[in-house]
Amino acid sequence: MDFPILPPQASKVATQTDNLYWGLLCASAAVCLVVFVPMVYWIFKYRSGKPADRTPPKLSQNKIELTWTILPLFIFMGFYVWGAKQYFLIERPPPDAMELNVIGKQWMWKIQHPEGNREINELHVPVGRMVKLTMTSQDVIHSFFLPAFRIKQDVVPGRYTTEWFKAERIGTYHLFCSEYCGTSHSHMGGWVIVMSPADYQDWLIRGRPDSTLVQSGERLFRELGCSGCHEGKSVVRAPPLQGIFGKPVPLNNGEVVIADEGYLRDSILFPAKQIVGGYTNDMPSFRGKVSEEQLLQIVAYLKSLGAQAPQEKP
Ligand code: CUA
Repeated sequence: MDFPILPPQASKVATQTDNLYWGLLCASAAVCLVVFVPMVYWIFKYRSGKPADRTPPKLSQNKIELTWTILPLFIFMGFYVWGAKQYFLIERPPPDAMELNVIGKQWMWKIQHPEGNREINELHVPVGRMVKLTMTSQDVIHSFFLPAFRIKQDVVPGRYTTEWFKAERIGTYHLFCSEYCGTSHSHMGGWVIVMSPADYQDWLIRGRPDSTLVQSGERLFRELGCSGCHEGKSVVRAPPLQGIFGKPVPLNNGEVVIADEGYLRDSILFPAKQIVGGYTNDMPSFRGKVSEEQLLQIVAYLKSLGAQAPQEKP
């Protein structure tokens, strides 16, 4: 019978995380043995009424205390460094990762690929590529859990969270919602399908989307009237958006914020919240007018403007 103790290891991070886990388990087991084995032995040896030798030992008390304080301190500080390194590795998405969008809702996962493909409760990825997920929820808090990759991250309404992984083995792996989110929480899951790069390309083409994420975003940018104020030739003064992504933005109140996905999202939904230095707030809120999918498409378009910007410079 197949009875795995841990889920399959589908990435290097998974192997490293398991090593840390086993390391901690072994250290805890060793400490446990050092405490309990002698304790049980002495319980019997010095039982009331036993004729054991009870004269105090002539060892230096200081030496013993220093040893059992300093030695474990170094051992467990080692675990701290090990764990912190692993944490930073998992928490910081590599900059050159392929970016997918994940939207949680009661009770399904909706995924958008940059090429425009969309899927529900399935996540197709190529093997050997780093994949960064930008995630949000359109109702309550969910959590996107990929056990085979040992990553789990809350998916929160009103903000973007991220996680990343790099699949090292072709195969099909579970994905779950791991935050109780209502009646059908236990059904809110599906599969990660890791494919060879060629199969992944085939899959993308078979999906045949009408437009890429950036194209959908650009279309929305015009349909919603954003381009009327935010593009070069406009009469209304609105901050230009060319090359804005990832750059610091000075605000009217003297603060400086980085124009990340969250900032762009907030600027669309709550334009009065952070006003760019030198501008007044003339922008209407698009709250309730754009869905989470559409917001991510517009953000993808604005990011693509950032990517184009350096080429335009002479
Ligand atoms: Cu979504 Cu639990």
